Amino acid sequence: MKKCCFLWNRVRYVQRKCAKKRGRRGKKDEKQVAGLLCLIAVCLTLTACSGPREEEEKTSIRIGVSLYRGDDTFINNIRNELEAKAKEYEQEKGIKVTLDIQDARGSQSTQNNQVERFISLGCDVLCINPVDRMDASVIIDKAMTAEVPVVFFNRQPVEEDMNRWDKLYYIGVDAKETAMLQGQMVVDLYREQPSVIDLNGDGVVSYVLLEGESSHQDSLIRTEWSIQTLKDGGVPIEKITGGIANWERSQASALMEQWLNEYPDTIELVVSNNDDMALGAIDALDRAGTGGVNVVGTDGTVPGLEALESGKLLGTVSANKEIYGSAIIEIAASCALGERLPEEYPLTDGTYYWPPQEILMRGEND
Ligand code: GAL
Repeated sequence: MKKCCFLWNRVRYVQRKCAKKRGRRGKKDEKQVAGLLCLIAVCLTLTACSGPREEEEKTSIRIGVSLYRGDDTFINNIRNELEAKAKEYEQEKGIKVTLDIQDARGSQSTQNNQVERFISLGCDVLCINPVDRMDASVIIDKAMTAEVPVVFFNRQPVEEDMNRWDKLYYIGVDAKETAMLQGQMVVDLYREQPSVIDLNGDGVVSYVLLEGESSHQDSLIRTEWSIQTLKDGGVPIEKITGGIANWERSQASALMEQWLNEYPDTIELVVSNNDDMALGAIDALDRAGTGGVNVVGTDGTVPGLEALESGKLLGTVSANKEIYGSAIIEIAASCALGERLPEEYPLTDGTYYWPPQEILMRGEND
């Protein structure tokens, strides 16, 4: 309305100026000019007051995805789900989905450049697995400036960053829940058959701990709560040693080899922050020809489930990857289309979605 009044006043002003200039020119002339100006004013008013044209319904969306490391086993499993779910979404909804997946190869500056490129390519939404979860602010700045919503996943940015804009979301498993489920499976087995866990029957379960990246929320919380759950559940544990293997199978294998040499015939249980490191410990146990040691992981990755089936892994906490992938794609697509977010994925504080997870144990769930 303000705009309409301004335009009308402007027309009247031009009218007055013209009249002055024309001076003694005939009245007929003046009337013609006034008529013309009125016509222009009506056109301008109509354009100004009708606002932007109704947005045409979108029939295609572009999603930019950046992975912190494409060679991480769990992230690779999630990537496969994203691809499958994007295809499903396309078929079910009849909306063309272009999924542009990039690997940041562990470099935050590479990831920042990828985000810039996604925005310049016209991505409607970004799905980011941040390299440095403490340093998501550059990505958020770029996204906010371009007004492109961001769905972060697996590596949780700090709360202060997440609170900066209402178009930021996070999807990832609840680390405390993972840890408590991991601890619980050992507690339950110990209660049923203590000798399966306390291998030498001395009333103490000697364990080693394999931890993920030190700055990752999952390592810190999983370590704390799986051990706490074992204690609370009455398992008489004693820590032999522990170390950081950064989620990696080869690093865990090297650590475990060293521990087996340092503490021969002592280790009864390996508690690992993820499946890949658990598999690394199993590799070292196999090389040393040491049998019977119990190893527990989390993630439920494809190789993790194979080890469970072959009996080498005692158990894992499996994130439901189908739901994980669907949640990312569907929340992202709703943002891209400007639709209400899907109700199947209830958000905590309007921002966080925690996919479900379950215990899978050797010999069960066959
Ligand atoms: C964890 C997962 C690890 C690793 C890490 C990467 O949640 O358990 O295996 O993928 O995320 O951020």
